[in-house]
Amino acid sequence: MVRISIFGLGPVGLATAVCFAAKGYRVLGVDPDTERVKLLQRGQPPFYEPRLRPLLRRAIAKRKLEIAADPTGNSRSDFAFITVGTPSNDDGSINLTYVRKAASEIGESLRASKRRQVVVVKSTVTPGTARKIVKPTVRAASGRTYAKDFFVCSNPEFLREGNAIQDTQFPDRIIIGSDEERSVRRLENLYRNFHGRGTPSIIRTSFENAELIKYANNAFLAGKISFINCIANIAERTPGADIQTIAGGIGLDRRIGPRFLNAGLGWGGSCFPKDLRALLSLSKSLGYEPAMIKAAIETNQAQWARAVEICKQGLEGLQGRTIAVLGLSFKPNTDDVREAVSIPLVKELLKEGATVRAYDPAAMNSARSVLGESVEYASTPLTCIDGADCCILVTEWEEFKKLQPSDFVARLRRPFVIDGRRIYNAARFRRAGIVFHAVGLGPAE
Ligand code: UDX
Repeated sequence: MVRISIFGLGPVGLATAVCFAAKGYRVLGVDPDTERVKLLQRGQPPFYEPRLRPLLRRAIAKRKLEIAADPTGNSRSDFAFITVGTPSNDDGSINLTYVRKAASEIGESLRASKRRQVVVVKSTVTPGTARKIVKPTVRAASGRTYAKDFFVCSNPEFLREGNAIQDTQFPDRIIIGSDEERSVRRLENLYRNFHGRGTPSIIRTSFENAELIKYANNAFLAGKISFINCIANIAERTPGADIQTIAGGIGLDRRIGPRFLNAGLGWGGSCFPKDLRALLSLSKSLGYEPAMIKAAIETNQAQWARAVEICKQGLEGLQGRTIAVLGLSFKPNTDDVREAVSIPLVKELLKEGATVRAYDPAAMNSARSVLGESVEYASTPLTCIDGADCCILVTEWEEFKKLQPSDFVARLRRPFVIDGRRIYNAARFRRAGIVFHAVGLGPAE
């Protein structure tokens, strides 16, 4: 049976590991964080991700997945996936420390091995990384010959947090970049066996195209959201306009498509902000000012502030007011608050003198590690809104969609709701006597 190592057990690495293990492959997951390793060995994911826990437990119980901090076991693997993080440097460029470290550990473990291993770069990296960094690092650390004893492929990952398992099992396409044929064929075969009849389109290309496809993909999606948010801001100032109807209308144009046209308080997470900054920094280093990328970032940075402004105007100042914030994670079904719009939004409310009471079904602990005790943490959505002067809906968790206008009328001091993700029916809320604002919804005619 094919053996696979995964270096870096974050959302991408763990989803890849458990999905391969579930199909019967022998998987070794390597992570230098010994606390994380101990948790995982006990079958406990270090973060919330739907479907991850049962798959992890089964894989460990069936001995298909081994978790270790020590990378030496990689010497027995046919493929080594690099799925480590690539955080931002201060100038927006990406920090390749973990990629180098993983490549070097892979190389060292291969020194005395007879395996011909394909090193697969899944981490999001700027063009040239696989060719100019991973390849020479593995070569130097292993003392072995490229394209004979070891190979390198660039294979970007497009999975979404909160959907990581589904996206790993059913990707839209697979991109494989390299400068030689054999590794591409081997990786393609691995995926053909893994996906069987459901194998999606496989694009074979250069390292650099593969690396840039990932950035272009995320920049396009983030740009699509910034675009609809920009139109939402126009609609919001236009009596009778509603961004949801407008998005539905343009989404039916097959050249545009209906997905990723949900207007809101902006995009966050571990990928879009970091990747757009990296693309901006890369472009600048190449002597090009990418106006589209800059506009997508700037539109996003201003998007959440409108909710605070409406709140402030509606309450004639925020000093001494209590604001309920529903949702802290950067999107539903995750406990991740990295670059979540909730963070600057809450900080701004606090700066304006408000008391903030927040609730999130999963992200309370991660939010606490960023916001500390500056915020009151409620234990249910209803206690969160109890006695507050205004409620701002920041993340569209299913749990919040169940709240009725009567819940807000009964609990808010004066019923005032700002729907930052368009989950509520404006007419129903207004009929119930609620002062209701929503992103992209113009004033009544
Ligand atoms: C993203 C990419 O989708 C994925 O392909 C890549 O591998 C990693 O980055 P992720 O960050 O997990 O995935 O989340 P995604 O579902 O793309 O949402 C990103 C942000 O955009 C969230 O803050 C979300 O709330 C926001 N969003 C998304 C919108 O505001 N409107 C939309 O229509 C869609």
